[in-house]
Amino acid sequence: MGYPASEKEGHGDDAYLSDRDFKRLSEWIHARIGIFMGPDKKTLMEGRVKKRMRHLKIPSFRQYCEFVFSVQGKEETPFLIDVLTTNKTDFFREPVHFEYLNRTVLPGLAGRSGSNTIRVWSAACSTGEEPYTLAMVLQEFVARKAGLDYTILATDISRTVLEKAEQGIYQEEIAAAVPLSLRQKYLLRSRDPENPVVRIVPELREKVWLRRLNLIADNFDISKEMDVIFCRNVMIYFDRATQEKLVQKFYRHLAPGGYLFIGHAESLSNLKTSFTYMAPTIYKKDG
Ligand SMILES: C[S@@+](CC[C@H](N)C(=O)[O-])C[C@H]1O[C@@H](n2cnc3c(N)ncnc32)[C@H](O)[C@@H]1O
Repeated sequence: MGYPASEKEGHGDDAYLSDRDFKRLSEWIHARIGIFMGPDKKTLMEGRVKKRMRHLKIPSFRQYCEFVFSVQGKEETPFLIDVLTTNKTDFFREPVHFEYLNRTVLPGLAGRSGSNTIRVWSAACSTGEEPYTLAMVLQEFVARKAGLDYTILATDISRTVLEKAEQGIYQEEIAAAVPLSLRQKYLLRSRDPENPVVRIVPELREKVWLRRLNLIADNFDISKEMDVIFCRNVMIYFDRATQEKLVQKFYRHLAPGGYLFIGHAESLSNLKTSFTYMAPTIYKKDG
C-alpha cells in the first residue's frame, strides 16, 4: 500500500468530513459509477469512508481525500467503490418477479421459433444470489422442455462481490430463502458443523457468466441480444438522466419481445423510454 504514514493524528476539523471533501467524493463517485449522494448522505459517507481510513491507518478525512485524489491513490478506487455501494441482496428477493418469469415470460420464450437458448442478464448482480435464483428457475423450466437451454450473464461494478459470486458459497441462513425442494437439488451442504455453508451445484455455476461491467459506460460489450434483463435495486441510486440513459441502453440490448425487471422501489414512469408496462416493475420491448 502506497499511503505515506503520517505522524499527525486527526483532530479538530480533520476529524470530520468537510463539506468540500464531501462534495469532491460525491462528484467522484457520481462520475465513476453514477451513484448520486446528495447532502443527506453525508453521515452515511462518513461512516463508510471511515472503514477505509481505519484499514489504511489514515487518521483524518482530509488526508484520506488527499490520498484518493493523488496519483498513488488510483489503487484505492475499487476499495472506495466497494464501501460506497450497497450490496444488499437475497435469494428469491421480490419473489413475484420469479413467478411472473416462470408463468408468463418463459412459456412465451419457449414457444417462439428460432433460438432455443434463453438469454438472461442479471445487471448489478451483487454477490450472486439473484443470478443463481434465476439459474434455479430456468433450470427447472428447461428440464421440462426438451431441446431448450439457457445462459445467464451476471455483471457488477465491484470485483469483491463478483469474487464472492464466483465462489457460490453462502451461509446456510442466507440460503434459507430458497424453497426446500430447490435447496435439496441445487445447494450442496458443507460437512463441517462449525461452518454451516452451502455451495451452488456446479451444474448451475457453469450456466452463470460473471463479468465486471459499469452500467454507466456509454456502450456495453455484449454482442448477443438478451431475452430478459433483471436490473433491480441499483437504478434507485442513480439520478434521472443516468437512469434514462441506462434504460435506453437496455432497450437496445433486448431482443424484440424481451423483458426488463426493475426493483420494487423503482419505476420507469418518469423516464423517456419505448418500453411497454406489463405489471408493476415489469416492462416489455415491443416485437
Ligand atoms: C443493492 S445491490 C442489488 C443486487 C440485486 N440486483 C438485488 O436486487 O438483490 C446493488 C449492486 O449494484 C452495483 N452497482 C452500483 N453501481 C453500479 C454501476 N455503475 N455498474 C454496475 N453495478 C453497479 C453494486 O456494486 C451492488 O452490488
